[in-house]
Amino acid sequence: MSVLVTGGAGYIGGHIVRLLRERGDVVVVDNFSTGSRDRIGDVPAHDIDLTASYAVNELRHVLRTHSVEAVIHMAALKQVGESVEQPLRYYRENTQTLAHVLEAMEAESVPLLVFSSSAAVYGSPESGLVREDDPTDPVNPYGASKLVGEWLVRDVARSTSIRAVSLRYFNVAGAGAPELADTVPANLVTLAIEAVTEGRAPKIFGDDYDTSDGTGIRDYVHVQDLASAHIAAIEYLRGSPASYSVFNIGTGRGASVREVLCELLDVSGSDLTPEVIERRPGDPAEVVADTSRVSANFSWTPTHTVRDMVESAWTARAHSER
Ligand code: WQD
Repeated sequence: MSVLVTGGAGYIGGHIVRLLRERGDVVVVDNFSTGSRDRIGDVPAHDIDLTASYAVNELRHVLRTHSVEAVIHMAALKQVGESVEQPLRYYRENTQTLAHVLEAMEAESVPLLVFSSSAAVYGSPESGLVREDDPTDPVNPYGASKLVGEWLVRDVARSTSIRAVSLRYFNVAGAGAPELADTVPANLVTLAIEAVTEGRAPKIFGDDYDTSDGTGIRDYVHVQDLASAHIAAIEYLRGSPASYSVFNIGTGRGASVREVLCELLDVSGSDLTPEVIERRPGDPAEVVADTSRVSANFSWTPTHTVRDMVESAWTARAHSER
């Protein structure tokens, strides 16, 4: 029996594939629009456009020929700003692809699904510490497309024999190996690394929030810890009678923008000073995961620190510059 990872050539998907390859059979489906074959080595991979009308039949062939038992659906677009400019593209890429995956799984009686969701479904939560049962009120099309994806998974799991979980990722950073690094400067750590590498001061989007040092607080989780959470999710599904569950995947610990940037400047040996600019519209002051549910149900504990994330991402940047 094997595991199919859609979007397995991506940043997070590549780390999941690396872990799965050490444990058994894994197969990748990716359109390689943002992912890279360098991340997956000799793992069997199928280049499929999951939005295409023929995708269901092509997926069914992959599921059948590789005797897939579980699907980890990572394939999606994830840039918040881009989603505001191109909402229809985000709904198409993030939900239509999922619908095709669900249709193929049902047709081939594949029992287990792990869906890559996001803390972005919460929008700007009232409380800094977020529980899975808290209101979901996404503030951008990216977050909304992930919430719609959760509803799709929930309703199909409830009406078929598929057993599924949605994993709400908090802020992912770091690299398990240089060739697996996040190469898209779209989030705090990758944007700051790009700035420092180019000799520019990293930017702090506002320091007048009601937090310990005035800067935004987030729950940063190392991509390797996030990847191992997916292995734990499959083990959970194998042993759980529940048709559908949702889990926050974070550390339960918050770190401020200033703290993260200080770590990066220390690791890089840079004498640059972060530059405070105006707030980014829509940013909440604090978003940290309540991890009670995942701690009670998964054999999984995040072990990496913010320092590990920054250090591994910084070390990897040289590789991406080659
Ligand atoms: C983190 C903090 C910023 C850049 C994202 C999206 C989505 C999700 C991960 C997958 C905030 C501050 C940032 C900079 C800064 N991915 N910041 N200077 O907005 O928490 O959410 O989380 O699901 O990509 O939902 O991530 O990295 O953009 O920002 O001060 O140059 O860093 O204000 O406080 P965010 P982020």
